[in-house]
Amino acid sequence: MKLRHFISLADLSGDEIRALIKRAIELKVKRDINYQPLKGKVLAMIFEKSSTRTRISFETGMIQLGGNALFLSPRDTQLGRGEPIEDSAKVISSMVDCIMLRTYEHATVTTFADYSSVPVINGLSDLYHPCQLLADMQTFFEIRGDIGGKSVAWIGDGNNMCHTFIQAATLLDFQLNIACPQGYQPNPEIVAAAGNHVRFFETPREAASNVDLCVTDVWASMGQEGEQQQRELAFKGYQIDQSTMQAAKDDALFMHCLPAHRGEEATAEVVDGPQSVIFQEAENRLHAQKALLELLMC
Ligand code: CP
Ligand code: NVA
Repeated sequence: MKLRHFISLADLSGDEIRALIKRAIELKVKRDINYQPLKGKVLAMIFEKSSTRTRISFETGMIQLGGNALFLSPRDTQLGRGEPIEDSAKVISSMVDCIMLRTYEHATVTTFADYSSVPVINGLSDLYHPCQLLADMQTFFEIRGDIGGKSVAWIGDGNNMCHTFIQAATLLDFQLNIACPQGYQPNPEIVAAAGNHVRFFETPREAASNVDLCVTDVWASMGQEGEQQQRELAFKGYQIDQSTMQAAKDDALFMHCLPAHRGEEATAEVVDGPQSVIFQEAENRLHAQKALLELLMC
């Protein structure tokens, strides 16, 4: 079998993402505890940053599919003492069957993949968060059907989640309306690659006008904690509140990858409101990633 990595959403085609979502829903609805295709297989999980959902969903997913997962922190391995990424990738991949990394620099994930003899999964880098988009898209498909031809508003930071939504818009053929403050726009190369799937708006309300889904994320991502105050000023006016949701379609959904800061990027009324599907999104990390592990390892 040809070695496949999942570094960005674009490592899958639109058809493959749709097939993966279908499989994730099957695994969710018909859980068979005797189905253990990953028996004897091991996933190494390297976390440079904190995690609740990503760690638990990958670890649980591996166990449910019959395998095992190892939690590795740079603080407790030689990675944190300067062992080259290239050497670490060769050594770790010689012993395990798949590697998931959560890193600061995206180049750490790509270099790891270049030197790994087993599939490498991006569990979030500063550039992308593709596993989250699998869960988000599964959630939309479950509730509203195919997202092709629909419209989505991204409001807030032009960050790793925004970049991955931009890729999803191209791959699954939906319209993405973006409203970000000056200086916090997404990477121009990623935007350019999406062509007319992406449009920019001055205000959250304009971006949300008549959309099927409103999405946001924290104003300061992991590693940007020192910019919190400066970002709070810059993002004032980019909060998703009830008036933003009212600009969207009546049945529009609200998503957030979590953790959420109520009263910052979205009001508590929206985060905990009837249009919010945040906990279904979080649970779907487990199901979507089980389908991903199956695709890459079986
Ligand atoms: N959404 C997400 O990736 O959550 P964690 O940081 O808890 O893994
Ligand atoms: N943009 C956020 C996502 C957290 C899941 C971060 O990178 O911290």
